[in-house]
Amino acid sequence: MNLAVIILAAGQGKRMKSSLPKVLHRLCGRPMIDYVVDLARSLAATQIIAVVEKEGPVAERLRGQGVELAFQPVRLGTGDATRIGFSAASKDVTHVLVLNGDVPLLRTETVRDLRERGENGADLTLLAADVSDPRGYGRVFVEGSAVRIVEDADATEAERASKRINAGVYFGDAKFFAQELPRLSKENRQGEYYLTDLAQRASRCEVICAPDEAEILGVNNREQLSIVEVELRKRKNRELMLAGVTMRDPAHTYVDWDVIVGEESELYPGVVLEGKTILGAKCTVYPGVRIVESQIAEGTVVLDGSVIESSIVGPEAHVGPMAHLRPGTVLGSHCRVGNFVETKKATFGDGSKAAHLSYIGDAEIGKDVNIGCGTITCNYDGVRKHKTVIEDGVFVGSDTQFVAPVRIGRGAVIASGTTVTEDVPPEALVLARAPRVVKENYAPRYWSKRREQAPEGHR
Ligand code: UD1
Ligand code: CA
Repeated sequence: MNLAVIILAAGQGKRMKSSLPKVLHRLCGRPMIDYVVDLARSLAATQIIAVVEKEGPVAERLRGQGVELAFQPVRLGTGDATRIGFSAASKDVTHVLVLNGDVPLLRTETVRDLRERGENGADLTLLAADVSDPRGYGRVFVEGSAVRIVEDADATEAERASKRINAGVYFGDAKFFAQELPRLSKENRQGEYYLTDLAQRASRCEVICAPDEAEILGVNNREQLSIVEVELRKRKNRELMLAGVTMRDPAHTYVDWDVIVGEESELYPGVVLEGKTILGAKCTVYPGVRIVESQIAEGTVVLDGSVIESSIVGPEAHVGPMAHLRPGTVLGSHCRVGNFVETKKATFGDGSKAAHLSYIGDAEIGKDVNIGCGTITCNYDGVRKHKTVIEDGVFVGSDTQFVAPVRIGRGAVIASGTTVTEDVPPEALVLARAPRVVKENYAPRYWSKRREQAPEGHR
C-alpha cells in the first residue's frame, strides 16, 4: 500500500475567537497540530500532506517535520481542502487517509484498525462514535448499504437527535478520491464543499465506531480546548504514574507532554512542569511549584511556591520554599537555595548554599560557599551588568553586598554587613562597617528628648 495522509489545517478557526490559528493553540505545552502530525507519522505513510491557508505560523510549524504543504487560500470547505491536498499526492499513491487538524486525541491503534478495515476494498471507510453530546458534529446514518452524513447546520430536528457522529477521519481508495473529489457540490446551508458528501458517492462505504468517545473530540472553541487538554493530561499523568511517579492528586498536577519524570519522584498538587523539563528520579516537588524548560537531577527537593526557569539543578539539591531560579542558573550537587532567594545567570559549585533572602545574579560561585542571609550581588550599574566571582570555600556573612565586578579569593571570610567594592585576596577577612559608638546610659535621655518633641497627646 502507498498511503498519503492528508491533514486538514487551513483556516483560522473562527469559533476560537483568537488571533492565533486554531491548530497552533497549545495542549499540554505543544501546538494541537503536533499531535496530529505525530499520529500521521506513526502510520508508515508514503507521504504526509498538510493543507494550510498560507505561508505563516502554521506552515512554519510544519516545515521540517516531514510534512509537505498544500495551500488553500480561500476556505471553501473540507472537501475543497482535501482536493487541494490530494492534488499534491504522488501518482503511485494507492490509498488516502484524511485527518482533521483539530482532532488531536485520536490514537494510532484506532486509525490502524480503520485502515485494516478499509483495506478490504471499500471506496471509503470512516470513523464514527456514539457520544453523549453530539452538538456541532456531523451525524452518521447507515441506511442499508448506503451511508449519509448530515452536518449539524443542515440537519433536521429529528436528525439532530441522533448521537452517532462523524469523527472526521477517513480512509479510502485513491482512485475513488481522484474521481469524486472534483464532483462535490456546495449546495448546502454553509455553501461549502463537504468532504462528508463522499460517503454517499461511494459504491461501498464502511463505518467503524471509535472505542472511546474521548478520542474523537474535536476542538472548535476554547471550552472544547480545555476538555481535550484535561484528557491529554490524564493520559500523560497515567503514563507517569505507571512508570513509577507518585502523584498526590493527578487531577491537579500539570505536566506538559514532553516532560520526563524519573522513577519514585513525587509530585504534590498544583505542580506545573512545562516544556522539555526533565525531573530526575526520587525528587519531591511540593505544592505550587512551576518548573519551566529545566533539568533537575535526582534526589532534589523543591519546596512550596518556587519557580525554576531554564535552569540546571544538580542532584540532592534543596530549593525553596519561595525560591526563584531565573534563566541561566546552574546548581551543582547538594546545593541549597532557600526562602526568598532569587538567582539569575548564576552557577553554584557543589555544596554551596544561599539559604535565605538573597539576590545572586551574574555570579560564579565555587564549591562549599556559604552565602549568608540578605546577600546582594549589585550586578547592574544602571547601564551594564557585571559579574561577581566567589571562589571555593568562601564564607559570606549576612547582609553583604558585592558591587560587581568583583572577585573574592578562595577561603576568604566576609564579615556581616560588608559592602565589597574591590577584589578580596584568598584566605583574607574583609570587614567594612561604620565604627561603633556606644554612649553609656544614654537610652533614658534619648527617650525623654523624643517625648518632649512629640506633639500633645503622644507624650
Ligand atoms: C467536520 C465534519 C463533521 C465532523 C467534524 C469532526 C465536514 C463538512 N464536517 O466538521 O462531519 O463531525 O469535522 O470534528 O467535513 N478545514 C480546512 N479547510 C476548509 C475547512 C476546514 O482545512 O475549507 C480544516 C479545518 O482547519 C479543521 C478541519 O478541516 O481542522 C475540520 O473543519 P471544521 O470547520 O472544524 O469542521 P467541523 O465543522 O468541525
Ligand atoms: Ca472541527
